[in-house]
Amino acid sequence: MKTVFITGANSGIGFEAAKSLAEKGFQVILSGRKLQKGLEAVENIKSSTKNSEVYWLTIDLSEPYSIKEAVQKFYTEFSSLDVLVNNAGLMLDHRTENSLGQEMTMATNHLGHFLLTYQLMPMLKRNTQGLVINTASDAHRRIKGIRFDDFFWSNNYNAWKVYGQSKLANMLFAHELDRRFRSQSVFSVSFHPGVVATEFSRGGDTEGFNKWSMELIRPFLMNASESSKMITYLITHESWSSFKGMYFQNYKPKKPRKSFNIKEAIKLWQLSEKLLDISFRGEQMG
Ligand SMILES: NC(=O)c1ccc[n+]([C@@H]2O[C@H](COP(=O)([O-])OP(=O)(O)OC[C@H]3O[C@@H](n4cnc5c(N)ncnc54)[C@H](OP(=O)(O)O)[C@@H]3O)[C@@H](O)[C@H]2O)c1
Repeated sequence: MKTVFITGANSGIGFEAAKSLAEKGFQVILSGRKLQKGLEAVENIKSSTKNSEVYWLTIDLSEPYSIKEAVQKFYTEFSSLDVLVNNAGLMLDHRTENSLGQEMTMATNHLGHFLLTYQLMPMLKRNTQGLVINTASDAHRRIKGIRFDDFFWSNNYNAWKVYGQSKLANMLFAHELDRRFRSQSVFSVSFHPGVVATEFSRGGDTEGFNKWSMELIRPFLMNASESSKMITYLITHESWSSFKGMYFQNYKPKKPRKSFNIKEAIKLWQLSEKLLDISFRGEQMG
């Protein structure tokens, strides 16, 4: 039985992917910040799929201490990991910071997943093959490239641009991860899930124009179950090595914007290691 760990799985695309993978007989670990919502999601999946190998792990991806705690628990409770789906994500109208003073969108969508992947890498390497899937977005087209001189957007904060940067980071990270680890049989890929009716931008994350424009188009959006098929497609694909860190949409590779290049990917990798004070070649848990 293959094990899949999905972040942002108590809602939206992550929840539907978890449900469909449980139906197919995978062991699935769901995660997110909200414990109650997470336990309800697990119960919902267990009762509808009759799969008892469905678990919850609370993580706040914006806080490194929370990631470290959750990973410790993961290593205690689970013996194997085949696929990590870095799916959690948010967009915030107002600039907020985590306890380290890092802007919250970048801390959650990119740095949190970078650290989580680093800490779970020994587990991913343990099996014959490992796969890391990053849920990115075509919103990466809203920016020209990563703002290396103001990574946390202290100046001219714009919710869609910061979100776009975090999604470009998800893509660059997948590309560089695959390049660095394919020789050790850990592969990676990113994808755009479509424009989907989920809890995204709700619950106080956005207000005014960003909130109401999303609510207005909601009836015309793709449903989360349809969108999540992309995740099951990638996981059940016969050749993970063929993904080569590419960006997928509608079940095939899609050309990203120009800023998706190896130079930018290496620069982002090095900055992320520096900000988190880690080295992927250095000491790891496991
Ligand atoms: N919906 C779209 O149209 C669309 C389009 C392109 C890409 N995407 C991407 O798809 C992914 C899933 O989003 P969705 O549309 O399914 O939205 P959603 O329903 O709002 O789900 C987001 C998930 O992320 C979790 N999350 C948020 N902040 C977190 C944090 N700090 N730590 C841990 N988990 C956190 C949430 O759980 P908690 O609240 O419990 O933490 C929730 O499970 C995101 O990466 C998003 O950027 C969505």
